[in-house]
Amino acid sequence: MSGLCTSLLILAFTTSSVADVGDFTPCLQFFYRSWPPKGLAGTPICQRYNNIYHFATLYSRPRRSPWLSAYLYTVPTGKRPKASWKYEPQLAYPAADGNMVPFLPGPVDMNVVESQAVELDYINSTYSRGHLNPSLHHQTYQCRSSTFTLTNVVPQKKWSNDGPWENLEQTVNKTLAAYCLGEAYIVTGIIPYQRDEHWIKNRVAVPEYLWSAYCCPKYNHTIPDRLKDAFPTFAAIGRNDPNSTEEIVPVDKTAKKQFRGYDVRQMSLNSLEMYLKDRFNTVVSVFNEQCA
Ligand SMILES: *[C@@H]1O[C@H](CO)[C@@H](O)[C@H](O)[C@H]1NC(C)=O
Ligand SMILES: *[C@@H]1O[C@H](CO)[C@@H](O)[C@H](O)[C@H]1NC(C)=O
Ligand SMILES: *[C@@H]1O[C@H](CO)[C@@H](O)[C@H](O)[C@H]1NC(C)=O
Ligand SMILES: *[C@@H]1O[C@H](CO)[C@@H](O)[C@H](O)[C@H]1NC(C)=O
Repeated sequence: MSGLCTSLLILAFTTSSVADVGDFTPCLQFFYRSWPPKGLAGTPICQRYNNIYHFATLYSRPRRSPWLSAYLYTVPTGKRPKASWKYEPQLAYPAADGNMVPFLPGPVDMNVVESQAVELDYINSTYSRGHLNPSLHHQTYQCRSSTFTLTNVVPQKKWSNDGPWENLEQTVNKTLAAYCLGEAYIVTGIIPYQRDEHWIKNRVAVPEYLWSAYCCPKYNHTIPDRLKDAFPTFAAIGRNDPNSTEEIVPVDKTAKKQFRGYDVRQMSLNSLEMYLKDRFNTVVSVFNEQCA
């Protein structure tokens, strides 16, 4: 799995004339069997940084936040990069080159502000910037840095982001690093509120839940019993609002006070797809043939 970013470099050069918004064609390699999830409508973004494709995002322009990001897991090394937040010029200017670029100090171009979330949306809000594709699931510095784009981020409560959700990301890291023998395809997305949508600055939609699922078709069959249900697929839903009902994810009343109500429930891919179907009122398929 380690050669991932280098192999993509070649790809980026051969497809650099292809648009990066509105089409997943240049970045189908981030989806199991080149098959993007079905059932959700949005703006496809092939996330390109320094001319390399790093992952894919299905973005919602009206929500100014992503529905989901899809990526390949690589065993991480080194530290989390210092956050340098980026945006996507091509969402504001269709003719722009498809590379994400860092926000510069000073006022942001109004077309950019209109087309996507900007740093000011998050500053002094009661939400942190929650990565869908997390920096910690990537090997190289470049890969990690590319996840710091606001189109890969949703408003997430700090005690979910730095609590149960981070624990999930670490658990997935350890499980895949230890037992996945081939590619591990991960898709992480959100579930919106059913009614009374929450927004920050009246601009960026807050998700009620985050979800994540992976597909690792080739794995070590000599696995401990506690991980028998973790292959080839695994899924989870995490709370982003302590006030949510407990039908999807129950609350552990004995959890430490600051983390209470931000529980993450591990489940089968099938159960996840059932909850997505319920909320989106349509069949949502995360992986081709459920990664069978
Ligand atoms: C954020 O809040 C602090 C403290 O109230 C204030 O000093 C600062 O100007 C605010 N920043 C923005 C960008 O609103
Ligand atoms: C991810 O897993 C690798 C391999 O087991 C380990 O070296 C690394 O410390 C883990 N990272 C985190 C943040 O848990
Ligand atoms: C599979 O896991 C077992 C036990 O954890 C380990 O001994 C073995 O080397 C692993 N096999 C491969 C191919 O990684
Ligand atoms: C939960 O509900 C209470 C009471 O209605 C409210 O004060 C609080 O802000 C809500 N919390 C969140 C995270 O929305």
